[in-house]
Amino acid sequence: MPDLPRLRSLITAFQVSAAVHVAADLGLSDLLAQGPRTLSDLAGATATHEATLGRLLHALSTVGLYEERSDGTYATTDLGEGLRSDIPETLRPLARTVGTPTHWGAWQQLGHSVRTGENAFEAAHGVDVWTHRADHPVENEIFNDQMASRTAAVATAVAEAYDFSGLSSIVDVGGGRGVLLEAVLSRHPHLVGTVFDLPQAVATEPISAALAPRWSSMSGSFFEEVPDSDAYLLKSILHDWPDDRCVAILRTLRRGLRDDGVVLLVEMVLDRPGYERAAAFSDLNMLVMPGGRERTQDEYAALFDAGGLRLTRVVDTDTHVSVIEARAAG
Ligand SMILES: C[S@@+](CC[C@H](N)C(=O)[O-])C[C@H]1O[C@@H](n2cnc3c(N)ncnc32)[C@H](O)[C@@H]1O
Repeated sequence: MPDLPRLRSLITAFQVSAAVHVAADLGLSDLLAQGPRTLSDLAGATATHEATLGRLLHALSTVGLYEERSDGTYATTDLGEGLRSDIPETLRPLARTVGTPTHWGAWQQLGHSVRTGENAFEAAHGVDVWTHRADHPVENEIFNDQMASRTAAVATAVAEAYDFSGLSSIVDVGGGRGVLLEAVLSRHPHLVGTVFDLPQAVATEPISAALAPRWSSMSGSFFEEVPDSDAYLLKSILHDWPDDRCVAILRTLRRGLRDDGVVLLVEMVLDRPGYERAAAFSDLNMLVMPGGRERTQDEYAALFDAGGLRLTRVVDTDTHVSVIEARAAG
């Protein structure tokens, strides 16, 4: 017999995702941060229908996010704490993002992508993700929050895994809030750094004021020009784009790269043992949302070749991301 219960739970996994999304949107873990509360108290604080909120909390208790106590109160669990807004690697922005009509609407077009090879987001919404976010500031803010907390989870590991000692300047290309740049600057006090991104996403001041003397920011497009540097750091950038657009980005970098400089991609590498499932589903997310893909080491090497660079090494971190280093070819 096939394992039908397992199959059933894979088929209905979207129900759990939807319930977690609503909990995140209502801020239930924040409301429970100081201790257990009654249902009527929570319903009042969230302006929700009390009995129905009870059904949501009951369902989420069965998957371990909250706990129904014998005295009638509800408490958050260790897992539920992950949805608190005030923890550095909070998953609340991710949970809020995946439940938006924009995100669900794009995923509903996965079949269209599989049939045609086209981007699902554009099929659903008529524009690319970056244009959509520029036009929808609230969603844009949640996405940027989500990237910042996701990057916070790996930033120290990247700053420690790669040897930055021979470099003097670094540009975090498509760096958003600059979380990765700040981790690198904090650990390597000889470096100066610039965060570079579209106007809708670029940080305008450092998160850590102590880094201000070595920190700057610039807005622009990596399809046009990036500031000259001896190192470019690109985390979760090339996986957003199809091959021809990646080559265009790499050619822009090549123009600004000093002769002995490095390009450092921070990405998941497809087929890295232990991370196959995460990378494969991230690959589908790239197909659906920005229209990119995850890649193997050989596929990154081919992109570098086409962009006038050559892959020189791959340094794995103890997280899901690796640092893929390239230098000028020839
Ligand atoms: C997946 S996010 C990664 C953000 C950041 N590197 C991180 O990992 O947290 C992709 C970033 O690319 C930026 N981006 C998209 N198109 C761009 C362009 N044409 N020029 C510069 N940045 C761009 C987005 O604004 C966004 O911040």
